[in-house]
Amino acid sequence: MANFEKVTVETDLLILGGGMAACGAAVEAAYWAKQNGLKVTLVDKAAVDRSGAVAMGLSAINQYVGLRDGANTVKDYVDYVRNDLMGITREDLVADIARHVDSTVHLYEKWGLPIWKDEKGQYVHEGRWQLMINGESYKVVVAEAAKNALLQSGVGQIFERVFIVGPLMDGDRCAGAVGFSVRENKFYVFKAKATLVAMGGAVHVFKPRSSGEGMGRAWYPPWNSGSSAYFTLKAGAEMTCQEVRFIPVRFKDAYGPVGAWFLLFKSRATNAMGGEYMVERKAELDNWGPYGRVKPIPANLRNYLGMLDVMDGKGPIFMRTEEAMQKIADKYKDDEKAYKKKAKELESEAWEDFLDMTISQALLWAATNVQPEVRSSEIAAAEPYFIGSHSGASGAWVSGPEDLQTDETKDEYFWGYASMSTVKGLFCAGDASGASSHKFSSGSHAEGRAAAKSAIRFIVENNTMPTVDDATICALQGEILKPLDTYEKFKGTSTTPDVNPNYILPRMFMFRLQKIMDEYAGGVTSQFTTNESQLNRALELLAFLKEDSGNLAALNLHDLMRCWENIHRMWQAEAHVRTVLFRQETRWPGYYFRADKPKLDEQNWRVFANCKFNPGTGEWKMLTRPVLHIFPQAKEHELLGG
Ligand code: FAD
Ligand code: ADX
Repeated sequence: MANFEKVTVETDLLILGGGMAACGAAVEAAYWAKQNGLKVTLVDKAAVDRSGAVAMGLSAINQYVGLRDGANTVKDYVDYVRNDLMGITREDLVADIARHVDSTVHLYEKWGLPIWKDEKGQYVHEGRWQLMINGESYKVVVAEAAKNALLQSGVGQIFERVFIVGPLMDGDRCAGAVGFSVRENKFYVFKAKATLVAMGGAVHVFKPRSSGEGMGRAWYPPWNSGSSAYFTLKAGAEMTCQEVRFIPVRFKDAYGPVGAWFLLFKSRATNAMGGEYMVERKAELDNWGPYGRVKPIPANLRNYLGMLDVMDGKGPIFMRTEEAMQKIADKYKDDEKAYKKKAKELESEAWEDFLDMTISQALLWAATNVQPEVRSSEIAAAEPYFIGSHSGASGAWVSGPEDLQTDETKDEYFWGYASMSTVKGLFCAGDASGASSHKFSSGSHAEGRAAAKSAIRFIVENNTMPTVDDATICALQGEILKPLDTYEKFKGTSTTPDVNPNYILPRMFMFRLQKIMDEYAGGVTSQFTTNESQLNRALELLAFLKEDSGNLAALNLHDLMRCWENIHRMWQAEAHVRTVLFRQETRWPGYYFRADKPKLDEQNWRVFANCKFNPGTGEWKMLTRPVLHIFPQAKEHELLGG
């Protein structure tokens, strides 16, 4: 592209993304970089104030351990996460986040985030681990601290509206990243001594339930499109838990979260006949080994019981908002004034939950005359997402911290620098790092802080700038900008830009990807069910899609971003299909069901299923890694968290 300016930026630490993990990384990196005379550069495809999953705000902080009050221990949290993930979790990673997360939450408070307090001045809990917040401006508060840390210390710079496409490599070491501005004709080359990937998870890999005028609406934010997975895969990093997608049950059509309803309001969910699947289908839990007996029941098993009702024709499923609100208000019924006050308070809390984090759900309620104190609302299992920071687990396989390793784990889980992937100089946090679920917004920030500190240590101990030759960069520039050239070259051969025999536009490409995943890899249409034959068919169709990705066309810079977002999604899809195929069992019914391997196989498959793409040969390697404990695990009841 002749009219593109090439901008080269040299830095020490490169932070990719501007979400919760990246903002945590920025705060910590600024401190350590200043001590060591280093530079830090943060790059976000959007504007840090309102980017990522927390853009709209949140109504709760989902990870707070409460160590200072002695409420819980780090081991309690590890037990909770391992159980929720049906036994598959990296205890060292989860423990590391759990021991640091409270300090992140205390920082949030110091920076001005309003956390609910009771009359005694204690945090108001939604559930055991969750704190209620007035979180409409959550991201703005966290972003401000990150920006201040980088810019006021003089060590940092921030690039917004620059889309990162992929890695730069110097042999087996990550050397930075390449991308382009989504506003100006600028191609960016970031050269760095260490790179921290924090570009979130992926949405719209599977066909969403929403269609037509609602298209684009999803639970997970539309702007996280698998860039972390693509980046790490293309760098040759080992990936883990790529099969562990997350399917959230959400208020239907606007995807409003359910946590506050289940935990704070203690609502029930019932089917069309008034039956409660969590009660009526309890016996089903016995089929899922020890995990059916833990408390809380794992998220995927809760999903599964509801799905069985729907498959039996007992849908829709309703969140009984009116019943839950009434039950709480009833406690005040002897005092009319207090009762009325409580009822009003509950009404505003119900609306605020959505106004804080899923505004469209409040709009849908308003548009359809729903008064939650009068009427139930439908809930449904959403399409699958990739979000390793929530109740999914997909991400890169990273080193744990040295001090948490045991004799047994140290050779498996530790290789020099905490949070570093299997590629030298390439660090990951938040959704980008795998097998450490339930870190959410606060834990992702805490993990970002720890990863940045570790990356700065890597730089201090490996203080050389990797080299990348100009020919490689030139070739990458050509490949990345090609969709613009393709459009210019062929636009005259049809009368409308969206149909052309010589190219495919990103929107159509995305529809093709979503259809493959939906029908063959266990999306909504196939009741989240798949089998070996369907997965092989998905791989065959994905190969054709990959071939056609070379013919993507872009009318403008925005479209160019869309092209690369969809290529990123396609790679996330492939890693997922390959790993679902590799794992010869069903471990997470309610996330996906392998109809040909319908049972849990503790004997052979209580292991991590990992994969690795070889950028040199283009081959994929599938492998298992052991699930090991860092806390002594004597008896089964202890393993299950007692
Ligand atoms: P994100 O915060 O999503 O950040 C990703 C960043 O990467 C963004 O800045 C994005 O712009 C950038 N990016 C993406 N692609 C590129 C690219 N190619 N180039 C450059 N930049 C890129 N947690 C809670 O604690 N409490 C809750 O109540 C809660 N509710 C949630 C509700 C919803 C709807 C969702 C989706 C999540 C919720 N979570 C909640 C979880 C929480 O939001 C995530 O765990 C957390 O944001 C993960 O942090 P992250 O940094 O990995 O990703
Ligand atoms: S959110 O991230 O979009 O807010 P969600 O509303 O599902 O997610 O959950 C918020 C928190 O409550 C998470 O920690 C989740 O694991 C937990 N949670 C939600 N529903 C239940 C339930 N029925 N039982 C136990 N924990 C739950």
